[in-house]
Amino acid sequence: MLSKLQEIDMKYIFHPCSQMKDYEKLPPIVIKKAEGMYLEDENGKKYLDCVSSWWVNLFGHCNKRINKAIKEQIDKVEHVIFVNFSHEAAIELVQELVKVVPKGIEKFLFADNGSSSIEMALKLSFQYHQQTGNPKKRKFISLKNAYHGETVGALGVGDIDIFTDTYRALIKEGLKAEGPDCYRCPYGKNFDCCDAQCFEKMEKLILENHEDIAAVIIEPMVQGAAGMKMYSPKYIQKLRELTKKYDIHLIADEIAMGFGRTGKMFAMEHSGVSPDIMCTSKGLTAGYYPMAIVGITQKIYDAFYADYLEGKSFLHSHSYSGNPIGCRIALEVLKIFKEENILDMINKKGEYLNKRAKEIFKDKEYVGEYRQIGMIGAIELVQNREKEDFSASERVGYEIYKIALQKGALLRPLGNTIYFMPPYIITEEEIDKMLTICRDSIEEYISKR
Ligand SMILES: Cc1ncc(COP(=O)(O)O)c(C=O)c1O
Repeated sequence: MLSKLQEIDMKYIFHPCSQMKDYEKLPPIVIKKAEGMYLEDENGKKYLDCVSSWWVNLFGHCNKRINKAIKEQIDKVEHVIFVNFSHEAAIELVQELVKVVPKGIEKFLFADNGSSSIEMALKLSFQYHQQTGNPKKRKFISLKNAYHGETVGALGVGDIDIFTDTYRALIKEGLKAEGPDCYRCPYGKNFDCCDAQCFEKMEKLILENHEDIAAVIIEPMVQGAAGMKMYSPKYIQKLRELTKKYDIHLIADEIAMGFGRTGKMFAMEHSGVSPDIMCTSKGLTAGYYPMAIVGITQKIYDAFYADYLEGKSFLHSHSYSGNPIGCRIALEVLKIFKEENILDMINKKGEYLNKRAKEIFKDKEYVGEYRQIGMIGAIELVQNREKEDFSASERVGYEIYKIALQKGALLRPLGNTIYFMPPYIITEEEIDKMLTICRDSIEEYISKR
């Protein structure tokens, strides 16, 4: 029986990334209250948010510090056009941001969601080469299984069929390099002894095409939507070396992994090298406000700096670029990181998550691999020890998701990968609860299969 709110929702709303027919069996869960780790629905049922509500929430729902910051900002400046105008929140934000981004990132552009920031990054790189005497450099390389968002440009550098297939004729497809696949490593290595031999595929593609390549774009350290596939920083080091040699930009898509997720402020830090362009969003505003920031080097900035009539400006704008509320939230996020020692907290809790997950899922036949970095843990579900996948038509992840909801946890598996990506405020008790509900949900599904 649907509630009144559910009825109205189903009558008018086309939800994202969904088959709406599925909502006949699982109607939208209407959340009336959100606090800390929990979402509470209209019937008072609580859900532990194990995925930070699409990887955005860092410090819990309705965080007191952020709520206060928003209230203060809203009474000062709610929005102002960002062309020719500026405001304190943006200025204070970039002053702090420049201290924590990888070395060499010195200028910042604003957008209002992750995909838009990817569009900006691609356009910036393309235009840079047009304006610096390399007009042939127009193509992009990305990794197989990459995900960089769902706008048309971003789909061109993405490689997840369910998002891309329908639009192939519409998309300008970039070149795709076979990337790391550490769970099924074709070189027989494991993470600890990896020398990123798989980079040879990317190397070949770059060597064959470098004259035409504007940029290579990667999700550093973890291919998120591909199933939290983690890979060695050595891959990034090799990529940085080669891209530098051939005047190819390295674009780091830190949208999902930035702001502490991997245990460092930005995932690129694991490799010790810097990108030329960096996209951030999601955690930037801790789940409060759609905002994205693209960081670039001074060298790129300089290629756009000229007399107006030379036509070198970067003419890309969004109505909400640099919105003051978003900026004030992002500033508070950076203050919380510093004042509450968040990176230390992530690493300590990450150790606990790792230890407990390994205990709880030890010797389970359905666990092909448990992998973790920082505050992301992922289970690759398999049918047996031969690493046989569940077929996609079984929708294993979706079925387990529904069982976990009944048990009070919001997990959101990616295909056959179940992952944990909770807000950083999660307690040890809540980690135990998350893992236990997950195990029980998997086992309930398997027993009924
Ligand atoms: C790595 C990565 N890039 C880009 C995006 C797109 O961001 P948005 O959903 O804000 O458009 C996402 C979203 O999940 C992402 O994980």
